[in-house]
Amino acid sequence: MLIGRPAGIRPSEITPETVFRQRRTLLRAAGLAGAATLLPRAATAADAIPARYRRLPGIRRDPSTTLGAPNTFAEVTGYNNFYEFGLDKTDPAENSGQFRPQPWRVAIDGEAGVTGSFDYADLLRPHPLEERIYRFRCVEAWSMVVPWVGFPLGALLKRFRPTSRAKYVAFETVYRPEEMPGQRSRTLDWPYVEGLTIAEAMHPLTLMTVGVYGVELPNQNGAPLRLIVPWKYGFKSIKSIVRISFTERQPPTTWSAAAPGEYGFYANVNPQVDHPRWSQATERRIGSAFFSPKQPTLPFNGYAAQVAALYRGLDLVRNF
Ligand code: MTE
Repeated sequence: MLIGRPAGIRPSEITPETVFRQRRTLLRAAGLAGAATLLPRAATAADAIPARYRRLPGIRRDPSTTLGAPNTFAEVTGYNNFYEFGLDKTDPAENSGQFRPQPWRVAIDGEAGVTGSFDYADLLRPHPLEERIYRFRCVEAWSMVVPWVGFPLGALLKRFRPTSRAKYVAFETVYRPEEMPGQRSRTLDWPYVEGLTIAEAMHPLTLMTVGVYGVELPNQNGAPLRLIVPWKYGFKSIKSIVRISFTERQPPTTWSAAAPGEYGFYANVNPQVDHPRWSQATERRIGSAFFSPKQPTLPFNGYAAQVAALYRGLDLVRNF
């Protein structure tokens, strides 16, 4: 993710595509993931999951979403974006230890028949957990394949009986500067907010995510509850959600407010629409050999057959 150039940030810190920076962050990630990160990846992701992560019970594997060998647990949890914990890709793992994801409540409001404040356990209880292996594509031209655990967001939303005026769904991340050191500086306009059209939110691929690799979400990956919208750039997949609102109008979103020329509301993965400062036509798989060629980025991140119909008649160059 690029930082839209908030005050006090050096240009070197907002150009993740520079050779120097990419090499530095990859090398730092390698420190967490082991030297194998810079070597061609193994066929499986069989690295150890630390015992402190609680196993989630009763997970059903959804084979329809499997997209090749997943990245390792260390890559998924050690190299990522969560600006509430800092700007560097290793900051979320390093700085999220004080964060307390339980107890947790989520507010439901807006255009719905059922609204109020709901306990995390009550939101989960009726929904059997599924493991889905999704390709996850960040805007800076890197991707991972990740075994997320969750349930379809639409199944949860239907419980609140959205009204016919509910055209969008807005999401908000928790605001806790005492536990999230990144929120103590104004790098972004906190709290982080995101939104989807109601059709996107109800689409069966959209996952209300509570775990990864069969264990509860680590803090750095958005504990205890986050979105995964696999056909969109990673910034749409908002973490540590405390509010879900049904709205009539398109809600504001953090990145399109910070840099409207660079990040749109839709943010569908689209190799034909470049980011103003770099190409989106190819991507590097995190964990692949450092000097291996990038691979072509697929429209809708490889999920075109399932989701392209959502956008029939919409100009996806203007609505980027
Ligand atoms: N959600 C919040 N609240 N804050 C963030 O900084 N970063 C986004 C998204 N969700 C972000 C967020 C971006 S830019 C990406 S690429 C993904 O989270 C990273 O998710 P991951 O940690 O599972 O790789």
